[in-house]
Formats: sequence, C-alpha cells, structure tokens
Amino acid sequence: MKMWDGRFSKGTDALMEAFNNSLPVDRTLIKEDIAGSVAWANALAKAGVLTVEERDKIVGGLKSILDDYNNDRISFLPSDEDIHMAVERLLIERIGAAGEKLHTGRSRNDQVITDTRLYTLGALDGVAECLLELQKAVVNRAKSDLRVIVPGYTHLQQAQPVLLSHYWMSLFSILEREKSRVVHAKKSADILPLGSGAVAGSGFCVDRDAIAAELGFSSVSTNSMDMVASRDFVIEALSVFASVGVHLSRYAEDLIIWSSREFGFVELDDAWSTGSSMMPQKKNPDSLELIRGKSGRLIGNHVRAATTLKGLGLTYYKDLQEDKEPLFDSVLTVGMILKVFANVIATLKVREDRVKQGLDPFLLATDMADYLVRKGMPFRQAHKVVGRLVGYCAESNTALTDVSINKLREFSEMFGDDVTDLYSWERAVNGRAVKGGTSLESVEAQIAGAEGVLEQR
Ligand code: ARG
Repeated sequence: MKMWDGRFSKGTDALMEAFNNSLPVDRTLIKEDIAGSVAWANALAKAGVLTVEERDKIVGGLKSILDDYNNDRISFLPSDEDIHMAVERLLIERIGAAGEKLHTGRSRNDQVITDTRLYTLGALDGVAECLLELQKAVVNRAKSDLRVIVPGYTHLQQAQPVLLSHYWMSLFSILEREKSRVVHAKKSADILPLGSGAVAGSGFCVDRDAIAAELGFSSVSTNSMDMVASRDFVIEALSVFASVGVHLSRYAEDLIIWSSREFGFVELDDAWSTGSSMMPQKKNPDSLELIRGKSGRLIGNHVRAATTLKGLGLTYYKDLQEDKEPLFDSVLTVGMILKVFANVIATLKVREDRVKQGLDPFLLATDMADYLVRKGMPFRQAHKVVGRLVGYCAESNTALTDVSINKLREFSEMFGDDVTDLYSWERAVNGRAVKGGTSLESVEAQIAGAEGVLEQR
C-alpha cells in the first residue's frame, strides 16, 4: 500500500521499491521535515483549511514522532519510500483522519527542498564555527612561532626567508575568504520554498511570510518553478566545502613534507599520527594525509551534484534525490577535516634547530641584488651580476655568504664592505616591511588584525 497508489493496478516490484527508497539517506532530515510540517499545519489552520483541533492534533503527533525518533522508538517500513512519506504514515497511524489532511496544498517537491534548505543553513553555521576555531588555532600557532625564520618556497625550491608566523597567517587570510563564501552560500539557501507546491504554487492561500518567519527563513521564494527545481544552493555549499578541502590539502601537503626526515622542520604529536603494522620505526602523518585525501572526496561530491543537475530541465525530477548523499557526506567530512587540522597544528612541534640548518645562504640572493640596486645599479643588471655570483658559488661549492669581498668585487665594483650587513636572516625578513610582507612588524599587524576579527564575534 502506497499513499499515491490510487491509479495503480499492481504493486511496486521489490527491486524497484529498494531502488526508489531514499530513507536511509534522507532520514537525516527528520528534524527539518517535522519543523516544516508543523509550520505547514499552522499555515493551513490560519487559512481555514484545518480546524484548530486538527492542527493541534497534527502538531502534537509530529512532535511525538520526533521525540520517539530521538529515543530510538521508531520502526520504519520497507514501503516508507522517503522520510516525508514515513513521517506522514506514522502521523496518520497515530492521529487518524486529521493526519490525512496535512499534505493539503503541499507537495514533496516543495517539502524536500524546504528540508534541505533548513539543513544546509544549519550545516553552514556549523562549518563557519569550525572555520573560526581553526582560525584561533592558526593565530595561536603564529604567536608561538612568531620569530622563527623558515625558508619560503616557490617550486619547492628555497626562495626567500620568511617568518613561520607569516606562513601560518597566510592560512588565516584564506580562511577569512572561506568564511565569506559560507556567508554567500547561506544567502542562497535562505529562501522559503513551502507554498510552491509541486510546480505551480499551492492552491490554498497560505501566509508564506508567516511560514518563513516561523522556520527562520529571511525571504520567500518569488517563483514556484525556480524553487522546486532549485539545487543551486546545494552546489554552492558543496563548492565551498570543496574549496576548504582544497586549501587545507595544500597546507597538509606542506606539513607532510616538513615532517619528513629530509626536512624535519616539524614533528606531529603522537595523538595525530599513526604507526605501521610492519615497520616498527614508522610514525606517519596520517591525519594530514587523510585531510589531503578527503579533499578529493569533497571535490567529487561537488562535481557529483553539479553533474546530476546539468541535464535536468525544469522542474522536479527524481534525479534530484541524488543531491543529499553528497551534501550530507561533505558536511560531515568538512567538519572533520577542519577539526583535525586545528588539532594537528595546535599540537605539532617546530624543530627550530632543523629549520635553522635548513636555511641556505642562497636565500639572500635577492637581498644582494636589492643591495646593488640601492647602490645605483638597474635591477636587471643586478639580477645578472648576482646570478653569475650564484653560478660561481654553485660551481666552487662556496656559500654565498663566504665569498670574500675581493671576489665579490670581481663581479661588481659596487660591492662594498657593508655587504656583510646583509648576512642576517632577521635583516632579510625585516627588510620586507610592506603591508602584507614578512617583517616582524607586518606579521604582528596581521596578528593584531586577526585578533580583532576574532573578537568581533
Ligand atoms: N525523496 C524525494 C527526494 O529526495 C522527495 C521528493 C519526491 N517527489 C516526487 N515527486 N517524487 O527528492
């Protein structure tokens, strides 16, 4: 027996029933489904479709279903094809005839998208919270590593010295942008669909603004066809989660490399590493590898939802049922990677001795070129001169900072005794005092700005 089987002369094939069934996935939406139904019952009563007694019975019945669900007292049936049908069946079983009136003027098409929007709004709030927690961990890390100087890399080749705190604060900056993406995704989700019906709008004149206010939506949809077809906000949320995954994956990649024996710049805490079943010496950065790995899954979920949508004309097609699995999966995954990453960076040890050993004097080559520029040489020429000098050092296996002043003068007369002033990591770092540069002052300003942002909440 199905609620919609009036026009059917035989039952659904068991395989079809299993194929069509979305309950194992969409039962996640029971809280939102019941909230939506309570608001709908209130609206129907206000519109004179339900009596106050019927409405109260419905609302009471719905609340008892949620309560029983939360206490593991609900058994679903194989014929409950999705959470909406399951709740309606349970309601009718509990309160009888009044329950049969709840679906008046409503369709599962506007119902499911109401539930999904409510869920997405809550999930985005949760992700925003995790982003903020990670930002706090980043700022703490930047403060404790404030003066540590590390090689800054391009092409995984040592480029210029930077403060480790500058590196950490780069993550703060990108997390700020992720937060603004979350805000936009919320805006796209924050529209009430109920009242859109199956496609053309409800045939009963319910007060949609009141429903929106009750459910906490800040606006009401302006077009029913758009609304029952809309999954743009799902794709947008999934793209934000994928973006978070991609970016954490990049930082994970750096830290994985830095934790290798060859670099040894950082050591992960035991609590966030795992061992090998065979090789007793191993301590692997699995936390970071999983963050990197799961970013593939977040991208996949985004692509999966967009691919489902792309061939569908307006309005609802059952294909759209496929939106929830990637959405729910990404919500869980993104929350997890944000929390794990925050813990990994809060607990990792920076091996300052190894970092120091890792600094190659060639990191000062740009400063030497800038020195010649300050003496009056055009930059292109200075670049050539220092390039030749670097070539000489590489060939003769001499550190850039060990070349005698006489030798330096063979490359350019402009080198003076004061060139040795350049041979200081602190000087090189503090020489980048532009806004957004790596000087101590600039990083302290970044941290102060970040703390201001975090306090604003
Ligand atoms: N389980 C469906 C989904 O998730 C609910 C909407 C079904 N609507 C319909 N007309 N069959 O998309």
